[in-house]
Amino acid sequence: MELHWQLLTFIVCLQSLRSAGFLQQEERKCNYGRIAKLMRIKCYDMDLKEVPQNLKTSVEVLDLSHNRIKKLKSGSFQKYTDIQFLMLFENMILSVEPGTFEPLTSLQEIDLSNNGLTTIPLELFQLPRLRNLYIDSNELTSLNLQALEKPIRAPLEYLNIASCELQELPDLGILPKLWQLNASMNPLQDFKIDSLANLCHLQVIDLTKSRLSQCGCQQVTNHLMMLGASPRFVPVCMEALDIRECPLPYNQTIHSATFASCQTTVELAETRSLWLLVAGCFGGACIALMIIIFWVIHCRRKRTQRRMRNVQKRKPFVISPKNAINNRHPEDEPLHCDTARK
Ligand SMILES: *[C@@H]1O[C@H](CO)[C@@H](O)[C@H](O)[C@H]1NC(C)=O
Ligand SMILES: *[C@@H]1O[C@H](CO)[C@@H](O)[C@H](O)[C@H]1NC(C)=O
Repeated sequence: MELHWQLLTFIVCLQSLRSAGFLQQEERKCNYGRIAKLMRIKCYDMDLKEVPQNLKTSVEVLDLSHNRIKKLKSGSFQKYTDIQFLMLFENMILSVEPGTFEPLTSLQEIDLSNNGLTTIPLELFQLPRLRNLYIDSNELTSLNLQALEKPIRAPLEYLNIASCELQELPDLGILPKLWQLNASMNPLQDFKIDSLANLCHLQVIDLTKSRLSQCGCQQVTNHLMMLGASPRFVPVCMEALDIRECPLPYNQTIHSATFASCQTTVELAETRSLWLLVAGCFGGACIALMIIIFWVIHCRRKRTQRRMRNVQKRKPFVISPKNAINNRHPEDEPLHCDTARK
């Protein structure tokens, strides 16, 4: 009878636990794995409301997409400083506390698309490794870049700001490494061609469904041709405008001071890395030389030591008084025992 009661209580407890969602959480654990030698944790589509804090801290690829996260807090990623790829798309992120992304100094790519952000957290632009930023399908209506420190530290290569209600391209200063910019599906009424002067290595720009003016369209196409970039995703300009109506854009783009400084930055970086390489080689050669010298000295010392040891191993000469005398002048150096002769 007693056993029955215990069993019943246990079952009731189990039921209530399950309905409270404790066991469900237990059942739906994040999935651990590896991708390209990186440690990956997938926590997508789990109804998460916050960034889980019980994951392995060495995570390098973290997928938190398709959840219900509303807010990112300054401690959200404090533990996970090894993250290189972070997926946060399809959440409900409305706000990001300052300092949230600061610890992510290894971050190379972040996907914040399809959220409710109204601005881009400026600290993202100062992450030293960030190459790819997806922030498309947010409503960046209060994007204010006044406080942005330029040039930015992030070596951005890819930027997706499609579908963000933007009226002009955001001014992020020179982006010497950016090769692809997706600004499609924005009402770019205020687009100005000089905003492309910052992008001296642009290869692809997507401006489809962006309400470019006739002249804007013509200028972008001209500029891309001059730059050797692909005009594939730029809408076909309907009518050819006269140069007086729509001047060639070059003095605002590739012949501008901004473009030149963008290029100089790249050249400087290249020269610096060349110098680093040279210095590295020189340093390497020096180290190799030092190792050789040490080795030679070491070998020599070993040899001398061996010789010394051999010397010690050999039977010591017996220095008999006789020999000692023979080394000197035998006549005038009497031995002690000879004193008696005198
Ligand atoms: C630009 O972004 C939109 C939305 O994410 C996407 O549908 C489109 O394919 C992208 N364009 C390019 C050229 O990748
Ligand atoms: C660019 O050239 C046009 C004439 O082609 C001139 O009106 C304009 O002032 C120039 N802009 C700059 C920034 O030099």
